[in-house]
Amino acid sequence: MGNILDGKKLADRIREDVKKEVQALNRIGFDVGLAVLLAGDNPASLQYFQSTLNACKKVGVTAYEFRLPENVTANEILNIVHTINIDERINGLLALMPLPAHINARRIINSIVPEKDVDGLGAISVGRLAADESSFQLFKQNEKDLFQQFRSLSSIWSFLPCTPFGVIRLLEFYDIGIKGKHVVIIGKSLAVGKPLANMFLAKEATVTVCHRETVNLAKFTRQADILCSATGRAGLIRGSMVKNGAVVIDVGINILKDGSIVGDVDFSSVSRKASMITPVPGGVGPVTIAMLLENTVRSAVRNELFKSPLMMG
Ligand SMILES: NC(=O)c1ccc[n+]([C@@H]2O[C@H](COP(=O)([O-])OP(=O)(O)OC[C@H]3O[C@@H](n4cnc5c(N)ncnc54)[C@H](OP(=O)(O)O)[C@@H]3O)[C@@H](O)[C@H]2O)c1
Repeated sequence: MGNILDGKKLADRIREDVKKEVQALNRIGFDVGLAVLLAGDNPASLQYFQSTLNACKKVGVTAYEFRLPENVTANEILNIVHTINIDERINGLLALMPLPAHINARRIINSIVPEKDVDGLGAISVGRLAADESSFQLFKQNEKDLFQQFRSLSSIWSFLPCTPFGVIRLLEFYDIGIKGKHVVIIGKSLAVGKPLANMFLAKEATVTVCHRETVNLAKFTRQADILCSATGRAGLIRGSMVKNGAVVIDVGINILKDGSIVGDVDFSSVSRKASMITPVPGGVGPVTIAMLLENTVRSAVRNELFKSPLMMG
């Protein structure tokens, strides 16, 4: 069986670091705040809402809860977002998807100022990733390079989306090389597939993106050195579709009728072919929330840095 890529282990490590940074900020009188907005009562979103609140509590981030009814208007949500945008106590805003069907979700997401878009899904954040302006965040060593930081000032306020960034961090945590590898991604959503493709390109992989209209999916998946599935289709990827020794990342979360949670990958057949594989649950999921906390504390550090008298003209 392939080795397990344990997301909980990485998430624990990230959370420990975040907790230390929050404590350091608290010691000099600064609080770190994250707003979490949920409209309606979609069970999966409600579960994510609760998990996010618990995760904030554990690392000392103050959570600001905004729970709105299903029939909330776009204008009411926009007013809340605008208030959060200028609230100095709040460093990031997570708006849980899906929003009720009558709300234009892109309009809401795009109204979050980029410096608080810690989920990295607003048009500015997405554009900066696509334009390679935020790719310095993918290369940790450059964070110490002052010249690089200076050149990146215009994009310093944007964040990489948590789930795809979590996938990259998981591969790095397990020392899995990306450069020159053929990465096949199934799913082209704005939240996962597309930004993940851009991140792998920045890391100089050869990237193939598949979706619902892809003809003969297995022809592509069998070529993958690294195969990432993000479709929400339980059992889509079977052992026969995977090359021997491939690394398999299962982003999918599917709740079955019996209440159990599985990914897109048929774990028993695929794990016999893969060299490394993420479980569901316990793979990409825990890393996603940890990345959200990391982005939030980074936002707080940057806020305080830029408010410092040293940075004023
Ligand atoms: N682990 C985490 O933290 C985390 C975070 C976010 C999402 N997720 C999970 O990841 C999955 C994807 O999320 P999402 O937001 O990206 O979903 P989404 O917006 O529904 O996108 C799904 C993508 O999968 C493609 N697809 C669907 N069925 C397919 C099939 N039979 N063959 C090939 N491609 C297919 C779709 O293609 P088309 O574009 O052609 O329709 C679409 O691009 C869900 O299960 C979600 O719960 C997990």
